[in-house]
Amino acid sequence: MIRFENVFFSYGDKWAVQNFNLTIRKGEFVALLGSNGSGKSTIARLANGLFLPNKGSVFVDGFSTSEIGEELKAKVGLVFQNPDDQFVGTTVEEDIAFGLENLAVEREEAKRRILEISELLDIGKYLRTSPSMLSGGEKQKVAIAGVLVMQPRYLILDEITALLDPVNRKEIFDFVFQLARRKNIGVLYITHISSEALNADKVVVLHGGKKVAEGIPAEVFRNFSLMESVGVSVPDSFYLSNELYKLGITTKDVLNEEDFLKIL
Ligand SMILES: Nc1ncnc2c1ncn2[C@@H]1O[C@H](COP(=O)(O)OP(=O)(O)OP(=O)(O)O)[C@@H](O)[C@H]1O
Ligand SMILES: [Mg+2]
Repeated sequence: MIRFENVFFSYGDKWAVQNFNLTIRKGEFVALLGSNGSGKSTIARLANGLFLPNKGSVFVDGFSTSEIGEELKAKVGLVFQNPDDQFVGTTVEEDIAFGLENLAVEREEAKRRILEISELLDIGKYLRTSPSMLSGGEKQKVAIAGVLVMQPRYLILDEITALLDPVNRKEIFDFVFQLARRKNIGVLYITHISSEALNADKVVVLHGGKKVAEGIPAEVFRNFSLMESVGVSVPDSFYLSNELYKLGITTKDVLNEEDFLKIL
């Protein structure tokens, strides 16, 4: 598991993250929500030792991030919002292979993994293409593939769908959600799109670098006044179904859009 214990982090004179505690278990999908500047990306970078806490500790499978080596660091895969910032290779294949080259993975095994993952993500046809020729959605798939070939135990996904259109957004979200379930990967999924948090095992809300809510999606989103005060939107389907519940039309929380449509 990844464990944040009383973590503080500062870039200057004020805390960007304060007294933060969180556990992400293998196979668990944790959604992290919060308005701009609330500390989400800082937490992403603390999760794999890219940043070290000023106070407190972050542990990956029991080892402090201030002590772990490259092998374990590679087990915590990080993907950011803008794939253009993540490209390093002149072809898609080189790009996907980049992280593997620093690990002791044999050539044949590396090739096998690259082929397998690019087929899964449907980017196999672009392996010899320059990443700059791809669309935003395809570029994000390349960035995700580059992390998956390292066979991570955990994925930290920082607004990876923010720049995508709704169709690509859903495709990439569904892909990582299902893959993580299948491979038992622990995910910290950072997003502004609260409907993406509906299927999470746990939702965490940040405000001013502090955790202000944590729980299953229904528990967290039901607190409408808190969500509003920290600038986090409640998913439309959840909000509307709660209104119907108050009117006596539905009997319980309805979380996803399909269930909601059935009631309508
Ligand atoms: N490199 C930096 N130098 C100084 N301050 C920074 C730096 N990066 C972030 N901060 C500050 O730290 C706080 C948290 O920033 P962070 O990027 O973690 O927020 P975020 O929740 O990811 O925001 P967003 O939704 O805009 O991506 C903000 O107040 C921000 O201004
Ligand atoms: Mg951010």
